[in-house]
Amino acid sequence: MKKLSARRRHPLAAVVVLLLALAATGGLYAAFAPAGKAQADETAQSLAIEEGKKLYTVGCASCHGTGGQGTTDGPSLVGVGSAAVDFQVGTGRMPAQQPGAQVPEKKVIYSQAEIDQLAAYIASLGAGPITPTEKQYSPDGADIARGGDLFRTNCAQCHNFTGAGGALTHGKYAPPLNDVSPKHIYEAMQTGPQNMPSFPDTTMPEQEKKDIIAYIRTVNDDRTATPGGFALGGVGPVSEGLFGWIFGLGSLIAVAVWVAAHTAKAKKS
Ligand code: HEC
Ligand code: HEC
Repeated sequence: MKKLSARRRHPLAAVVVLLLALAATGGLYAAFAPAGKAQADETAQSLAIEEGKKLYTVGCASCHGTGGQGTTDGPSLVGVGSAAVDFQVGTGRMPAQQPGAQVPEKKVIYSQAEIDQLAAYIASLGAGPITPTEKQYSPDGADIARGGDLFRTNCAQCHNFTGAGGALTHGKYAPPLNDVSPKHIYEAMQTGPQNMPSFPDTTMPEQEKKDIIAYIRTVNDDRTATPGGFALGGVGPVSEGLFGWIFGLGSLIAVAVWVAAHTAKAKKS
């Protein structure tokens, strides 16, 4: 007893106690803090799924089924992934209103936070393409020329050379791409809406998607400042050439005929 109290009065005793206390706090923090954060993320995630399920039941279940299994009015959403939801709801295609050849774009009725919740719920039904991050879809530093090559081989047959859009069979159409956001362009490639084929990362890596986005942005931003004059809507070399032939040559011929008619008149009088 005497020994202990003697030690307690030792000048270094306070320092030792302090060090022990610090070590204990640090150790406890290290043991519990990351687990606490992971748990917080998990709760946030399950909360988003919960909220998304509520929104889904009200706005989407009538066509896509109570568990996303699909009905005669809408396809199954199991495995379409969060990217498909972000694209379809974010461009105002979903919720669809009436049946037709193709669901048109409308005013977006959900906030981005609600879209994220819907996406979290549908992603929880089955794994699918994940909503891209800004780092993935941002066209900064992309190769525009290569994007143009890729666009002409993979996309131009439907969307035209500069993405002006075009008609497809049975009343369907490939929409113009001039004011689609980079995120939605990326998601369209990931998920292939409607008649469009999908271009998953395995066949078209992230960098190629960035290049294509950069190309689409560049040709459409430049259209307002066309160096060659009148842009004719950027519909491509064949249609623009035809326009040149018919209207360009046509007006030259008209002028020639007019001149000839007037010189003939002048001679007579
Ligand atoms: C009136 C019926 C209807 C409603 C309501 C509706 N959908 Fe759809 N949905 C459809 C149809 C039909 C398609 C297929 C359309 C197509 O292929 O263009 C579709 C397609 C989709 C797709 C694409 C699936 C894929 O394979 O890529 C997603 C995602 C989707 N809907 C999500 C939703 C969400 C989320 C809601 C609620 C906010 C919703 N839909 C509301 C009818 C509906
Ligand atoms: C077989 C024809 C076809 C090809 C090839 C094709 N698309 Fe599409 N694309 C479509 C159709 C049809 C739609 C409309 C889908 C809908 O409304 O549900 C579409 C929609 C889109 C949209 C959404 C536009 C909007 O207004 O929201 C983007 C972006 C897009 N395509 C980009 C591309 C890119 C980039 C490529 C090449 C990598 C490509 N597409 C290849 C047919 C095609």
